[in-house]
Amino acid sequence: MILYSSPAVCSLQVVEETPCLRHKTRMANSSYTSGLWLTLLLTLFYTAKAKIPAVIVFGDSSVDSGNNNVMQTVLKSNFRPYGRDFEGGRPTGRFCNGRIPPDFISEAFGLKPAIPAYLDPAYNIQDFATGVCFASAGTGYDNATAMVLNVMPLWKEVEMFKDYQNKLRAHVGVRKAKTIVRQALYLLSLGTNDFLENYYTFPARRAQFTVKQYEDFLLGLAETFIREIYALGARKMSLTGLPPMGCLPLERATNIMGQNDCVELYNNVAVEFNGKLQSMATKLNKELRGLKLFNADAYNIFHDIVTKPSSFGFEVTSVACCATGTFEMSYLCNQDNPFTCSDASKFAFWDAFHPTEKTNKIIADHLIPQLLSTFA
Ligand SMILES: *[C@@H]1O[C@H](CO)[C@@H](O)[C@H](O)[C@H]1NC(C)=O
Repeated sequence: MILYSSPAVCSLQVVEETPCLRHKTRMANSSYTSGLWLTLLLTLFYTAKAKIPAVIVFGDSSVDSGNNNVMQTVLKSNFRPYGRDFEGGRPTGRFCNGRIPPDFISEAFGLKPAIPAYLDPAYNIQDFATGVCFASAGTGYDNATAMVLNVMPLWKEVEMFKDYQNKLRAHVGVRKAKTIVRQALYLLSLGTNDFLENYYTFPARRAQFTVKQYEDFLLGLAETFIREIYALGARKMSLTGLPPMGCLPLERATNIMGQNDCVELYNNVAVEFNGKLQSMATKLNKELRGLKLFNADAYNIFHDIVTKPSSFGFEVTSVACCATGTFEMSYLCNQDNPFTCSDASKFAFWDAFHPTEKTNKIIADHLIPQLLSTFA
């Protein structure tokens, strides 16, 4: 049962306003000649690109690009059909048929189209200097969550970040390393597992906390984590809240209240927790000098995809593409399963817990204009 009850989902979110686009429109309507306008636009474009030297990722399976491959855990995805729509049809350890949101975001900032995992032996510090992923599928803010499937707790991700900084200094020198760390964009995405893999699956935390108390406990851990990486030099951060986690196929399949409906309780917890994250971001932005903590909430776009699938070109959202689409992930989603769909782009979910590449791209595309205008 443990195998079925786990990792997190992609999150990253949509934002309503796009000041950057408004700005461009205003320029287009002005009396500049088209040549001058083009020059200005190009300058804006390259300045934007020059400002973010690297994308650095912390979190769970929503953003893990392969760190679990080398860990003693059952939570892996470095085999087919995972990665079948990735470049070369290569399974990488991403919990997806293709790319995940940080990959699309990195590309949009003019950096590499896929962010390598720090523990992947195929890459070295030269690769990591422009983008690196410390995320571990199955982890959460709570140390106890990482213990469920023996994956990397968040504090170890921070230890890897320190190790990375040492290697970066040796590679590009102390001054340049400091600039990269300070100017990099940090993508932080986790929390789903704390609720679904831990709180609602095992009795220990439920005996200790009501769900509201557990939210506050996690919030304290999230704040500590942000203060830690801030102290280590991080400044530009995008923090993703929880997705509508009651709508993951696994939760829908096990919903005893309805016929394959989303579990409203879990969605309500997600909305409540996201609101608390937002308040924390506002507080820390006031308190910590130079910090730009952007609260990236994937909830609304994700919910739109699940409730209005046809407007996004999806045919199926209640079950996933892989295997029966109701409970399989990790080793249960494998090449031998005859039920896996042939066209993942018709499905919102790839496995019972994770979105398809198409969903990831829709989410990233909603987020990117806001990230560009906030950080570039
Ligand atoms: C999580 O574990 C680490 C390492 O043992 C420890 O330093 C940290 O205090 C723990 N966090 C909590 C909230 O217990």
